Amino acid sequence: MLDTIPNNVNLSENPKLQRALQHWLPNFLEWWKEMGPEGFQDERIYLRTAIGVGQGGWANFDYVKMPEYRWGIFLANPRPATTIGFGDHMGEKLWDQVPGEHRKELRRLIVTQGDTEPASVEQQRLLGHSAPSLVDLRNLFQVNVEEARHLWAMVYLLHSYFGADGRDEAEDMLERRSGHADRPRILDAFNKPIKDWLDLYCFTMFTDRDGKFQLASLAEGSFDPLARSTRFMLMEEAFHLSVGDTGIARVVRRTAELMKEGTEPAKVGAIPLEIIQKYINEWATASYDLFGGEDSSNAAAYFSTGVKGRFEESEEGKYPDHLALDAAYTAPVLENGKWSKREIPLRRAMNACLLDSYIEDCSKGLKRWNGILEEHGIGERLRLPSTHCNRAVGLYADHRFDVEGEPLDEAAWQRAKDKWFPTQADYDLVKRSMVPVLEPGKVANWLAPPRGVGGKPVDFQYVQFH
Ligand SMILES: [Fe+2]
Ligand SMILES: [Fe+2]
Repeated sequence: MLDTIPNNVNLSENPKLQRALQHWLPNFLEWWKEMGPEGFQDERIYLRTAIGVGQGGWANFDYVKMPEYRWGIFLANPRPATTIGFGDHMGEKLWDQVPGEHRKELRRLIVTQGDTEPASVEQQRLLGHSAPSLVDLRNLFQVNVEEARHLWAMVYLLHSYFGADGRDEAEDMLERRSGHADRPRILDAFNKPIKDWLDLYCFTMFTDRDGKFQLASLAEGSFDPLARSTRFMLMEEAFHLSVGDTGIARVVRRTAELMKEGTEPAKVGAIPLEIIQKYINEWATASYDLFGGEDSSNAAAYFSTGVKGRFEESEEGKYPDHLALDAAYTAPVLENGKWSKREIPLRRAMNACLLDSYIEDCSKGLKRWNGILEEHGIGERLRLPSTHCNRAVGLYADHRFDVEGEPLDEAAWQRAKDKWFPTQADYDLVKRSMVPVLEPGKVANWLAPPRGVGGKPVDFQYVQFH
């Protein structure tokens, strides 16, 4: 079985890695059968498989049953730079082994990242039953198999560089379960249920996008095998983000069409704009928390040791100073009911810097969606909620803020929160729209048609039912 694993890490000449995988792989397949997409394991899906890192090598499309998917192990091509680009070790050679003194931090980063990958597969496992089109069904499964491959990418690092405790961590990733009371996944947003397809689009737009920024910051880092693994993952991640971004755009477009012709969306099984906004608020704010505290000693340690940089740290001219020793980050904080400014030493504020880059990226999506509203002559606009709102982590977690970021007291929050976040009635309404449409070329009534993928037309038979 091992000889069919696509890879560029010399698996066939690495008996140690072979032994580790021989043990892990059957457990992984067990996990996939138990927690992977329910009800579609025997269907043939038109999926892309990564078989190499060169141009086109990562996008081979063919029909495959998901349990037979060829999950592979890939490192992106070496970076132009051969030295560490920031932090205390700036200018030293990149690490091709884990230095003993940074072993714990690196293991924690890899495990935390790795854990999110199977978690998202678990969160999404029931959605196939209510797919709004065959393209969407296929795209869901593409995301699922690639998240599983991302787990492989992190497990490869644990097996290759972290000895016995790495192997234990790799097993534990197959033991935890999203939303489980006793053995949940590590991060909160990955324990939230993804109940419907609007959740899925918001998750892939906002939560996968946190993934993009975490991976991108690791791709700048000093531990070269991790940086090159995450660089390759980012190529797949781009597709997941497009599923979210274009998914929400299609929902907005359908709702706008109906509003323009004077039809109330909810009356015809489509989704009112206010509910789309509430879902955005829910998933965006949960995803903000994934960045961690704005003032963080862990973030400072990751930057100092060089394992995690800022977004595009190595891009020419983007950051004038890669030591970040003297500068500060100014954050507004609420103290005794009054706003003041807190100066956070820049290294401690690296999570806040990454969150800022993320917000900038999300805003582009909002702009596109609002363009659709404008195109249809609709006056309302969708907004990204403030990074102060609904936080469980960081500077704003101890106080209530509205979606614009203004403080309010607990009573006012309780009165208003159903205006901003989905209620059970909203979830019920969305659920009623979730009727499966599996005929090629057809699409559910609550969103605009998708585009074809893999060079195929939209009415292609993306899934062959047995
Ligand atoms: Fe991923
Ligand atoms: Fe993803």
